[in-house]
Amino acid sequence: MPLNIRTYHELTEPDRSGLAQQIAAQRRRVAGRLAAVGQVVAVMSGKGGVGKSFVTAGMARALARAGRSTGVLDADFNGPTAARLLDAPRARLRVDGDAVLPATVADGVRLISMDQLLEDGRPLGFRGPDAESHVWRGSLEAAALREFLADVAWGALDTLLVDLPPGVQRFQELAELLPAAPAVLTVTIPTPESRDAVRRAMRFALERGSRLAGVVENMVGGAFSGSAGDELAAEFGIAVLARIPWHPTPDTWRELALRV
Ligand SMILES: Nc1ncnc2c1ncn2[C@@H]1O[C@H](COP(=O)(O)OP(=O)(O)OP(=O)(O)O)[C@@H](O)[C@H]1O
Ligand SMILES: [Mg+2]
Repeated sequence: MPLNIRTYHELTEPDRSGLAQQIAAQRRRVAGRLAAVGQVVAVMSGKGGVGKSFVTAGMARALARAGRSTGVLDADFNGPTAARLLDAPRARLRVDGDAVLPATVADGVRLISMDQLLEDGRPLGFRGPDAESHVWRGSLEAAALREFLADVAWGALDTLLVDLPPGVQRFQELAELLPAAPAVLTVTIPTPESRDAVRRAMRFALERGSRLAGVVENMVGGAFSGSAGDELAAEFGIAVLARIPWHPTPDTWRELALRV
């Protein structure tokens, strides 16, 4: 039997919850919070463990060192790693009136991460029926992203990097909340398996109106063989912005920052 689920667009009776107005108001709030942000760049891969967070942190620090004000929004709510990668495992958020202020961490990067709200090692919790927690978890995470975007006062930023979890779900939520689809920088390792997963993510981002900012090939020169970076770049007509070896030097990051 088909499910008869209506969206709020289809409500014909008077909508006493005011849901449509609430959503419009929140979108305006997000747009206001990001008004002084030059560009939002989502760091995405479609594949887990390829170094999205590592690349986001290295790039953020290099951008900041080059004099560009840079923020990092760690949108991986269940496996937040950005605070540790930015040498600030104990950074805490501050609240000022209706605004949440990002922590200023390594090299002056401004950071918001679930790490700053959760006690050490605790997963993101929620208030609701335990039995159906798998049903609600997705909505809880989408709501957390919405609140971060609506409440965080970044101030003026040249670049806000969004460190996404694997998959495309969080990217989609982000694209729906922002006034315009974010630019997307994809991270791959050299292997064909990574290339195929990243290709799907890139197509998904293109279909949602994102500009592809380039590919970063990570974990180059080690055990992984293949040429995913070059292949994806040729296929999508974009550049390989960097090839990151194991344990890169500051020069590698500086060159990447110049090209973002
Ligand atoms: N070029 C590199 N040199 C040394 N260590 C690296 C490099 N790239 C990634 N790592 C390490 O590999 C691990 C996985 O990287 P990372 O957490 O950035 O991947 P991810 O794509 O963000 O993973 P997830 O999909 O879980 O978010 C981390 O411990 C990270 O520090
Ligand atoms: Mg990560």
